[in-house]
Amino acid sequence: MNLLTANKLSHTFDTNLFHDVSFELSEKQSIAIIGLSGSGKSTLLHILSTLLTPDEGSVFLFSKDVSTMSDKELSKIKRDDLGLVFQQHYLFKGFSCKENLEVAAMLSNQSIDDELLKRLDIYETKEQKITQLSGGQQQRVSIARVLTKKPKILFVDEPTGNLDNITSNEVKNILFEYLIEYNAGMILVTHNEEFAMDCDKVYRLENKELIKIK
Ligand SMILES: Nc1ncnc2c1ncn2[C@@H]1O[C@H](COP(=O)(O)OP(=O)(O)OP(=O)(O)O)[C@@H](O)[C@H]1O
Ligand SMILES: [Mg+2]
Repeated sequence: MNLLTANKLSHTFDTNLFHDVSFELSEKQSIAIIGLSGSGKSTLLHILSTLLTPDEGSVFLFSKDVSTMSDKELSKIKRDDLGLVFQQHYLFKGFSCKENLEVAAMLSNQSIDDELLKRLDIYETKEQKITQLSGGQQQRVSIARVLTKKPKILFVDEPTGNLDNITSNEVKNILFEYLIEYNAGMILVTHNEEFAMDCDKVYRLENKELIKIK
């Protein structure tokens, strides 16, 4: 099943970032987007995850053009089907790790998976407040929080940026296993070339174009 289609996307802030960006994501598939800092990768991810409207082109989610969806329809998809792990973690700072996960579990009628927390090595820190966690721990809490809601499409921006090699590898395995288990798809933005090359397709954002390199 087709999860997402990008059709001739183009976006400009002060200058044009990219144009004619097109690709498709299907179930159990992972797509990596690499490119220099400032090339527009996060901006593209914001467009694909419907947080930002592109200047030109369209995004289809589950074969339907996002721009033709009602607010209600889009909100439901965002709540149930899209999972966003971004560079700035949108965690509730005054809450503990466990409370953040409880909110995600409650909103999506799912339960917290203690095994996942153990694998991410945040089980022991789950009672601590977010502000008392390291950057890498917060990053893993945001991954756990997103997976708790069992989305169909994961949008992941630099998920291993603050992590050591061992933890980074575990995060990679958890994400790939998730795609298979839940028939989900993932769009990953990363500077971690090894993680990128392990994805099914790899694109580089370069000279304002998305070039397929795998
Ligand atoms: N909301 C905004 N308003 C104006 N310019 C923006 C906005 N968001 C991003 N930009 C600009 O767009 C360019 C691309 O930013 P973006 O965050 O997409 O890059 P990136 O490829 O994700 O970089 P990095 O690898 O450092 O995360 C940058 O020059 C940035 O300053
Ligand atoms: Mg970025």
